[in-house]
Amino acid sequence: MDIGVDLGTANVLISMGSKGIVLNEPSVVAYNKKTEEIIAVGNEADKMTGKTPDYISVIRPLCDGAISDYNMNECMIAEFIHRVTGRQMLMPRMIMCIPSSITDVESRAVVDAARAAGARKIYLIEEPVAALLGAGINIEKPKGNMIIDIGGGTTDVAVVSMNGIVAKTSVKMAGNRIDAAIIKYVSSKYRILIGEKTAENAKLTLANVYDPTGDVKTEIRGRHMLKGLPVRLELSDMDIYEAIHDMTDELVTAVRTVLEKTPPELVGDIHTNGIMMSGGGSLLGGLDKLLTKETGIECYPAKDPMTCVARGASEAFKYIDKLLDGFIDVSIY
Ligand SMILES: Nc1ncnc2c1ncn2[C@@H]1O[C@H](COP(=O)(O)OP(=O)(O)OP(=O)(O)O)[C@@H](O)[C@H]1O
Ligand SMILES: [Mg+2]
Repeated sequence: MDIGVDLGTANVLISMGSKGIVLNEPSVVAYNKKTEEIIAVGNEADKMTGKTPDYISVIRPLCDGAISDYNMNECMIAEFIHRVTGRQMLMPRMIMCIPSSITDVESRAVVDAARAAGARKIYLIEEPVAALLGAGINIEKPKGNMIIDIGGGTTDVAVVSMNGIVAKTSVKMAGNRIDAAIIKYVSSKYRILIGEKTAENAKLTLANVYDPTGDVKTEIRGRHMLKGLPVRLELSDMDIYEAIHDMTDELVTAVRTVLEKTPPELVGDIHTNGIMMSGGGSLLGGLDKLLTKETGIECYPAKDPMTCVARGASEAFKYIDKLLDGFIDVSIY
């Protein structure tokens, strides 16, 4: 029993060897404050977002790539692992992918949660390394491989060669901040308040950060801030572009920063092989073209970018002895 877990800010994915992805749910917990009980975890809890009475809170235990609620995080991990392992007697080995900006105390909390959920041995791996493995890249060779992983909370950019990270950066600029920018833009330009889900849907259908025309449109619903009444509004791809282009500029800067820190020989390899993109944010319309234009290096999304990290985590069991950097053996705890 070997399990790979991608503990993401937005989604938790679990993969098990040949079975592939066995769980893919949002990192959300719904909690009853009166009875102090957990009501729902994952998909079910996510449906309640923004629709609960006062005594129920819907919590995202991971926020901006950090653990914001230790207790809820532990309960969430335990519940997800229980769902995939069931009543299995054999205790699994686990490789957990954690947000790379996580602190020691936080990673310790993740380890404790995995242990509480019945793990026999636990390893932590950094997201970029897992993403490359999941994309089927051979990272053992003395060759530069660059990855940009854009999730919900953080964007990680890294260059990996010979099983180790050579240069990297992590910025708290990813899907959630992009959604927040859309909410802010709509409220200041149209005086209409929209919810997180509406903003995210507008992003999914309209985002074009490369060559927006203003012709692609969709209707959204919100509340007028002055009248206080529900209203409909037509948004275009140009609106979304204006709302988020500052954010995508930050992503370009992050890639440039890592390229500047990378030794020239490896930059040559990256120029030949291109830059791989993973994570949900890599699907942002036109982002691959924008990054290609701004860096002069071909940027392309990995196959199935949202499951890459989790698949890589279970793939990493094959390399346990070899992965040095970016791979911490915490079985000693
Ligand atoms: N087609 C799409 N276009 C733009 N953004 C998308 C698309 N599909 C998903 N996303 C965004 O991707 C994000 C989730 O990606 P992912 O599941 O990789 O994050 P995560 O791994 O949970 O987060 P992190 O790695 O930061 O901890 C969400 O913000 C979501 O809005
Ligand atoms: Mg991720």
